[in-house]
Amino acid sequence: MTQVLNLTDIQGNILKGYGRLSFPKARYIFFHISRAESGRLFINSLIPHLTTSIRWRPFGGSEDDIERPTTTLNLAFSYEGLKALELPFQSLRGFSDAFQMGMQARSAILGDDNSSSPQYWDPIWSGKPVHLWVSIYAQNVESLEKRYLWLIRQLDSKEGGIELLAGHRGDDGKTLPYQDASAVYRDGLPSSQEHFGYHDVISNPFFEGCELKPERLQGNGKRIYDKQGDRSWQALATGEFLLGHPDEAKEYPAAPTPRQLGFNGTYLVYRKLHQNVGSFKSYCEQMATQYPGNDVDLFMAKLMGRWPDGTPLTLASSTEAKQAVDIQMSRLLEQAQTSPDAAEELVRLRQNWRGFDYISEDDPYGFKCPVSSHTRRANPRASLEISDSIADSPSGLVNRHRIIRRGMPYGAPSHVPSDSGNQGIIFMALNACIERQFEYVQQQWLNYGDAFNQSNDKDVVAGNQDGKGKSVIPSDPQSGHPPFFATKVPRFVETRGGEYFFMPSITALRMIVRGLDLR
Ligand code: HEM
Repeated sequence: MTQVLNLTDIQGNILKGYGRLSFPKARYIFFHISRAESGRLFINSLIPHLTTSIRWRPFGGSEDDIERPTTTLNLAFSYEGLKALELPFQSLRGFSDAFQMGMQARSAILGDDNSSSPQYWDPIWSGKPVHLWVSIYAQNVESLEKRYLWLIRQLDSKEGGIELLAGHRGDDGKTLPYQDASAVYRDGLPSSQEHFGYHDVISNPFFEGCELKPERLQGNGKRIYDKQGDRSWQALATGEFLLGHPDEAKEYPAAPTPRQLGFNGTYLVYRKLHQNVGSFKSYCEQMATQYPGNDVDLFMAKLMGRWPDGTPLTLASSTEAKQAVDIQMSRLLEQAQTSPDAAEELVRLRQNWRGFDYISEDDPYGFKCPVSSHTRRANPRASLEISDSIADSPSGLVNRHRIIRRGMPYGAPSHVPSDSGNQGIIFMALNACIERQFEYVQQQWLNYGDAFNQSNDKDVVAGNQDGKGKSVIPSDPQSGHPPFFATKVPRFVETRGGEYFFMPSITALRMIVRGLDLR
């Protein structure tokens, strides 16, 4: 049965990303609520302006669709924030344990140790507790500034009961009253690159209720193999990402009472991840000289699972294969306008870009895409359940650990790659269960390798290693090359702040503003 969601009730950026090319500028603003009444008044003034999941005209096409706005507005609360708004204890205790504890208390689980420890985070995270997260995405800087000034004006007449929190480190070490983020610009235009130089935002879960577009389902849904061995993709259960709906176990995710408080809401994981671009580039250049082929892009691809331009290793796992795909792609792009055959081949090629899994691509041991690579660890795509019952649940385990990523880079790229620049990702993940989804991926798959027979090797790209660890890039025995050991892996990514938030539905926000009736 097709799931129909009330799009006007669900906050925006959940069912579909705002898109770095459409909204290349973003600002995250944080508040502390010292008087519940002021907090409620402030939120009440924002509710009519919040961006919902309703589709915008260029993407949709139905009468109900609306024009795409120049800016978006969304909000979410930390657990302390919900307490500051005086939600009844009976409701508060229904929220997830991780959310109640807050991100800093989960440091050991998240691997936020050494240079990633909370003591080194931006000053905002050690001052007054962060209660409220507000995001603005904008088509350009002017509309971003205008919306921000409007937001700050809403603080007037709240009699000091709500306070904007400063303390985000920006360029040149300055501290700012907000966290800015921006798409990385290439040749004056916004791109989907992140600071290490990879094309990002290609894969994200597709679940029931999302607008059905074949290219979004391929590779992003869940893998189904029927008894005859035929393969297809199906939408994941809504309850993996929105409270109040059945999840992949056909259960309702744990949620607070009353039911409407959680319904259509989700948990937002917000993390500021600094990228040591200088170390990453020089490590790849140096290791590539020892890796067969001496090709930096190939070595980078083996760490990520995708080439810097996004081509998956399952499609092209060697320098020669990549060159062949590049030639094929430019030929098809040229011919597709005039030749239906070329257009069809182009569609097939693009489907393979996303719509793969590691078993059907005949890569169980990672000879093409290393099991140690970032994308394969973060989403093993049906490759963990190799058993007789594969036909029943080829991705049953993986389906329970999917996260929606809504990250955005921050800091301008520097001409000379360096670790001391202000470059990173505002990593954001949405999920119905922080412990089972985000924290599991972070702890078990990125910072520990047991699930992939990698002992305690960590993810090279985002793991919390400290110059001692290694990562194994397997080789096809027929190639005659031994496996490659990438050794002495430094920590390329350091946490600079973060918190767990709850992003309620519009209905729940109205309930919070008016006060909950638990009778
Ligand atoms: C600065 C740190 C990070 C960088 C530079 C980074 C970069 C990337 C890139 C370039 C991709 C491939 C593009 C795509 O498939 O959409 C990707 C995919 C992904 N990343 Fe990360 N990432 C980072 C941190 C994380 C963290 C902390 C997590 C989870 C805890 C994570 C989870 C994922 C997932 C789930 C995918 C999609 C894999 C797939 O579906 O095939 N990433 N990342």
